Amino acid sequence: MPYTPFTITPLTSHGTGAEICGLDLSRPHEPDLREALNQAFSRYHVLVFRDQKLSPRAFAHAAENFGEIMPQAIKGHGAREHPDVFELRPMPVAPGEYRAPGGDGFHTDHSFDVCPPKATALHPVILPSAGGDTQFCNVHLAYDELPDAMKNRIDRLQAVHTYYSRNAAYKVRTLDAASLAVLSPPAIHPLAPVHPENSRRYLYISQSRLESIVGLDDAQTVQLVKELMAHATQPKFEYRHVWRHGDMVIWDNRSVLHKANGDYDMREGEGRLMYRLMLKGPVPLASRQ
Ligand code: OGA
Ligand code: MN
Repeated sequence: MPYTPFTITPLTSHGTGAEICGLDLSRPHEPDLREALNQAFSRYHVLVFRDQKLSPRAFAHAAENFGEIMPQAIKGHGAREHPDVFELRPMPVAPGEYRAPGGDGFHTDHSFDVCPPKATALHPVILPSAGGDTQFCNVHLAYDELPDAMKNRIDRLQAVHTYYSRNAAYKVRTLDAASLAVLSPPAIHPLAPVHPENSRRYLYISQSRLESIVGLDDAQTVQLVKELMAHATQPKFEYRHVWRHGDMVIWDNRSVLHKANGDYDMREGEGRLMYRLMLKGPVPLASRQ
């Protein structure tokens, strides 16, 4: 049986991001369709499905086309209908003051886990009238464009990632006691792992979680991460997503870094609420298996 047809349109000239129209992801999975979607995901790293209307349960079902849902380790934000669907809102930091979660810098999600998520997905429930875009940078392309001397240097380096890094460039979400109780200990990951599906290297960096690089002191670590981050987040590697109601966006946390934008009025009226979930991933490895 041929699967439900869909249209796919690249969103950049550099192969980062593709828009998919014509599907209703709340319907039962079709194995051949799933295969085609996973191929598209592997090729474009960020998929934007238009015109979806998904309850938390249907959102989880839609994401399961791409893998297995990761249990939610940050407690207190789960949707009632599905506790592993996180309700992502601006974070209160002081009375009347909010910050956009994921808005302070480009990052990859949960790199402090031994097995970090392969993917994260978002589906908007409430959008501000303007702003609140999400930016994605392709870190395969960024790696490929590094000078050979830098590639040789970083291919052998390992980094320690932890939730509260002493070298964080910005403040991260404060965890409550229930979340602290299940928090992962620090994890060691290659700085330039090989992607398990496409075998390409990528830059696995973060200015919030990457605390140290084995063999370097703190100043050297901070300097190298800053340099790699500046390189990786150049506009030529970027797809910037302007949200529409009905979008479901899923991205590969190995292939791209991402960043939210808090450029809307977070106090009141202009809300932004997203359903969010992550998919389980394997241990990042420094060489092909
Ligand atoms: C996230 C994140 C970006 C956004 O969900 O991990 O960084 O635009 N979100 O909300
Ligand atoms: Mn994030």
